Amino acid sequence: MEEKIAQLKAEAAAAVQGAADVAALNDIRVKYLGKKGAFTSILRGMGSLSAEERPKVGKIVNAAKAEIEVLIGRQGEALKTKELEARLASEKIDVTLPGRNVPMGHLHPLTLTLERIKDIFVHMGFSVEEGPEIERDYFNFEALNLPKDHPARDMQDSFYITDEILMRSQTSPVQARTMQGNEPNKPIRMIAPGRVYRRDEYDATHSPMFTQVEGLVIDEGISLADLKGTLELFLHQIFDENVGVRFRPSFFPFTEPSAEVDISCVMCHGKGCKVCKGTGWLEILGAGMVHPHVLEMSGYDPKKVSGFAFGMGVERIAMLSYGVDDLRLFYDNDMRFLRQF
Ligand code: PHE
Repeated sequence: MEEKIAQLKAEAAAAVQGAADVAALNDIRVKYLGKKGAFTSILRGMGSLSAEERPKVGKIVNAAKAEIEVLIGRQGEALKTKELEARLASEKIDVTLPGRNVPMGHLHPLTLTLERIKDIFVHMGFSVEEGPEIERDYFNFEALNLPKDHPARDMQDSFYITDEILMRSQTSPVQARTMQGNEPNKPIRMIAPGRVYRRDEYDATHSPMFTQVEGLVIDEGISLADLKGTLELFLHQIFDENVGVRFRPSFFPFTEPSAEVDISCVMCHGKGCKVCKGTGWLEILGAGMVHPHVLEMSGYDPKKVSGFAFGMGVERIAMLSYGVDDLRLFYDNDMRFLRQF
């Protein structure tokens, strides 16, 4: 009997040792220690033994079972460790692989130019105002001294939505809006950047949509000298210190006197080339002293305050600063072009 138990124990121990994985080990436990297992059936069969033998055999069987239990526990741990190591090895992450590149975007050349323009004026103490792109005829024209049927409206033929509402053809309506939003005669020093719309032919020099920056300064005693000084400072900063600036008489219904402001050609430095059409000068903005009637219409008293205004095209400034010769490149979204900025 004892021999049989020893043999069974040896057999169970060998089976445990040879178990290849946790599942096999479980089967072995059931086979030897389970309710219908080999050791249990020995215990069940003890009825046939003598009274002296019974406790002896019972003790041996229980000791053998305990030993096997310990072996199973140990082997279980060993197998779990092995399985974990195998998983760690097969699911290993190679942290030395290079990461995926996140493509970096950047600002559009027109946005870059607008940011530079804003920066210069903000440093001179200007605020930045905005107005709607869908504008009332009243603000776009009438409040700027362009009554209905005024011939100067033809210069800015726009897209009308109704007789009274249009896509604004200039940023100048923000002048009237700002004045009318203020208490009468309150000093103003603002720029108003934004998109404007004109029904121009779409060729290399025109686009039905473009970007302007309006400027307006109103206070007591503002003169043409302030206008000249401000614009010269601006043009020297946006182009370079040595750029020539000249004022030519012009006409805008909302300014009097009015001027067209030129800079010496940035391509040929005034010698005359294709870009400046041989003149040595480039027209860069429109400006003038705010017409007394315009002040009056928006609740400002021309006897107490005076002001100047100007307007410029952002595309034109961007073209001249970057040497771009076709306006349409700004809107084509061609990455080969845009990547260069
Ligand atoms: N609004 C004018 C234009 O678009 C430019 C301008 C603005 C002229 C302010 C004078 C004063 O042509």
